[in-house]
Amino acid sequence: MTRCELEILREHAGDIARFFPAPSALIEFGSGSSKKMRILLAAAPIIAAYVPVDISSQMLIQEAQELRRDYPRLAVLPVEADFTKPFALPAAATGMAHTGFFPGSTIGNFEPHEAGAFLRHAGRMLGRRAALIIGVDLVKDASILHAAYNDEAGLTAKFNLNLLARINRELDGDFDLEGFDHRALYNSARHRIEMHLVSKTRQHVRAAGRAFDFAAGETIHTENSYKYTLEHFTTLARGAGWTPVAVWTDSGKNFSVHALTFQTDDACSVRRRKEACGASVFPPGERCRSAHGRALRSRPVLNYKYDVAIELSAHADLRSRSLAPAIFRGCGLSAGCQHPDRRQRRLALVSAPPLGL
Ligand SMILES: C[S@@+](CC[C@H](N)C(=O)[O-])C[C@H]1O[C@@H](n2cnc3c(N)ncnc32)[C@H](O)[C@@H]1O
Repeated sequence: MTRCELEILREHAGDIARFFPAPSALIEFGSGSSKKMRILLAAAPIIAAYVPVDISSQMLIQEAQELRRDYPRLAVLPVEADFTKPFALPAAATGMAHTGFFPGSTIGNFEPHEAGAFLRHAGRMLGRRAALIIGVDLVKDASILHAAYNDEAGLTAKFNLNLLARINRELDGDFDLEGFDHRALYNSARHRIEMHLVSKTRQHVRAAGRAFDFAAGETIHTENSYKYTLEHFTTLARGAGWTPVAVWTDSGKNFSVHALTFQTDDACSVRRRKEACGASVFPPGERCRSAHGRALRSRPVLNYKYDVAIELSAHADLRSRSLAPAIFRGCGLSAGCQHPDRRQRRLALVSAPPLGL
């Protein structure tokens, strides 16, 4: 994944930089080593300030020192914050236009509805005229994904088991790391890699003052990494108020880097949000067709008070069903009630606040 993303950034940095508004403050969400940002910086002299945002202060301080030494003309303005929550941008960056940078397919670690909410929140934070450059891992053959997440060197296994080491260290736990195996599997219905730690035996563990019993074979589900098609990701981004303007992939079409632009929060009008779902939204009882020609019919859902209900027809695929609520939530409309009926392939959503139809 990293190799593919670096290939894209190195090959297309100049094209990517064309979407940066000038003068630009580059805001990297979860900056870590800031390695990828250096590639963009070399191609985009219009970047006047760099705002690395990370939850780890130690990493931030260290990287900021190195960047200031390597780029004396660049204003390096680190922010220690949780990027999923609103945070204040440094005053020195507020007068500039903002370009967000969110590489590494970290977006894939969010549930789809969280990914939509993050994109919307990023748009609000970055503001009008902002651009967002975002790396997204693509849906691909399960065997490729399986090999990547079960690498022979055992790097992913080490990363996964490190969670138990951290629990031992930070939450006073007594996990025996030898007692768990790493397992990564591709859930093709949900387009995600699931990482688990599998208990090898029946065991009793204590952490954070609580006791946990594991049966042999029982797993701790540690992480998901969602994969997107180009179309599904751009749909998600549109639903959150962004306009996809360009996308680049590596030579193997395994990974994508998207350029998105944001007009104003108001521009994410109800109509556009509705269109982004590829479906019409309409009062209960009405019938209509979705943008893709699917038959849709709204109907009352259970006893909930609702503003709008959508029923996806029997032809709606699994992915539409999982993505639609994500788009609604990402747009701040919130799927107040989700009523999936797997057998009949139905989904009902309730919007709150009212859509003002
Ligand atoms: C996998 S590294 C990615 C680093 C870099 N962006 C890249 O792609 O090479 C993820 C970074 O995000 C940070 N991070 C994870 N969750 C975060 C959060 N909720 N808020 C801020 N930083 C976060 C971690 O501390 C880590 O430095």
